[in-house]
Amino acid sequence: MMMWHNKFVVVGVTGGIAAYKAAELVSVLTREGAEVQVIMTASAQQFITPLTLQTLSKNPVIVDMFAEPKAWEVQHVALADKADLFLVVPATANLIGKVANGIADDMLTTTIMATRAPVVFAPAMNVHMYANPIVQMNIHKLRGFYHFVEPGSGRLACGYEGKGRLAELSEILETAGRVLNSGTSAQQTPGEYSNRVVTNINDQLEAQQCGVADYSGLTVLVTAGATREAIDPIRFITNRSTGKMGFAIAEAAARRGARVILVAGPTNLPAPPGVELVAIESARDMYAAVTEHYPGVDVVIKSAAVADYRPKQRAGQKIKKGEGDLILELERNPDILAQLGKTKQRQVLVGFAAETNDLIRHASDKVRRKNLDFIVANDVTQAGAGFGTDTNMVKFIFPTGEIHELPMMPKSEVAGAILDQVLVILRQRDKE
Ligand code: CTP
Repeated sequence: MMMWHNKFVVVGVTGGIAAYKAAELVSVLTREGAEVQVIMTASAQQFITPLTLQTLSKNPVIVDMFAEPKAWEVQHVALADKADLFLVVPATANLIGKVANGIADDMLTTTIMATRAPVVFAPAMNVHMYANPIVQMNIHKLRGFYHFVEPGSGRLACGYEGKGRLAELSEILETAGRVLNSGTSAQQTPGEYSNRVVTNINDQLEAQQCGVADYSGLTVLVTAGATREAIDPIRFITNRSTGKMGFAIAEAAARRGARVILVAGPTNLPAPPGVELVAIESARDMYAAVTEHYPGVDVVIKSAAVADYRPKQRAGQKIKKGEGDLILELERNPDILAQLGKTKQRQVLVGFAAETNDLIRHASDKVRRKNLDFIVANDVTQAGAGFGTDTNMVKFIFPTGEIHELPMMPKSEVAGAILDQVLVILRQRDKE
């Protein structure tokens, strides 16, 4: 590996269990002819001694910015200028968070901020910390400017793979070598950054497998409940929807890091934490709220039971009973979802179909007619499915005719399955 010969590599070591692996990295780089300067954070020294890294790098290790003012006065600038490459191994959530937010309060963060050399981060942390939406957001943000070596996966108690373990040293060296050769500078354009925020779905999918999914950077619009169509100031037409399914979706999406806008008809349910609730009454109110937010959202899940018709006349005063029958004339409401389908850009559109007969035929027709990505279909005549229950038994029906049949499960789990399916669609789009 001639590439390391005479290269000046700054290795930043932060405080995590994987800090000891930095010793081997330093040893390899030095052996390959690189000049290595190690900077340790204060907490890194709880895991490995500066003396070890000093011996291996053959250079004094920098541990404290203010220890020897004369010697280190402008050290961060000197190091920043001299470096051919920065490697931060391991990079903790704390270090990533600081850099992502422009905090420079020790030698490592100050030098990273001052350098124009490429910087490679090799994150290592607890799997749930890595999946935390805030950590993911920070990584997404930094990805536009710096390089990352993805952590490896380990088997979790829940049976799935979870990320967080420091990548193999060979992988770190390979990425570092590639970055060094390509001469990619640390700074890229903000445009590249903003693209990555919404498109890095792979990480999100992986994280979600253990119930800690990452919808960060995505905006999800959910509609829920029944609409009310006024007959007079006292009476209205409505349906049996309680909003439980939609509220469960909104709650799950928020927990997975999404910005969630929940447009809901009248209901007794409390707004889930972190969700922006837009309370509406009629189908036309819902139409206005949904179309207002539509251009800025990534995903729309329309679980609301929208009244297809409203009374043609809304009496200004209470209708008094007369001798004979009363005939109410109804007129069509706008089909909100069909309208969204017509003007769809990049949004993933998910509809619901509650049917009493010919479920698959009706739902398949709706998924195509309304230009949806898929429809969640349920036969409301079955026990444990439909309105007011805590469970649901649904099928996902796709425009291709493909059908995914789900067993009976709590609405919270149906919500999770819908969000999983949306991520699969986003990931497929990412690849195209
Ligand atoms: N929907 C809507 N606006 C309407 C009616 C329905 O956005 N005016 C949405 C619902 O939120 C749901 C989907 O369309 O996601 C399916 O609703 P449904 O009433 O079952 O479908 P319709 O097309 O109205 O078909 P039909 O009433 O004939 O069953």
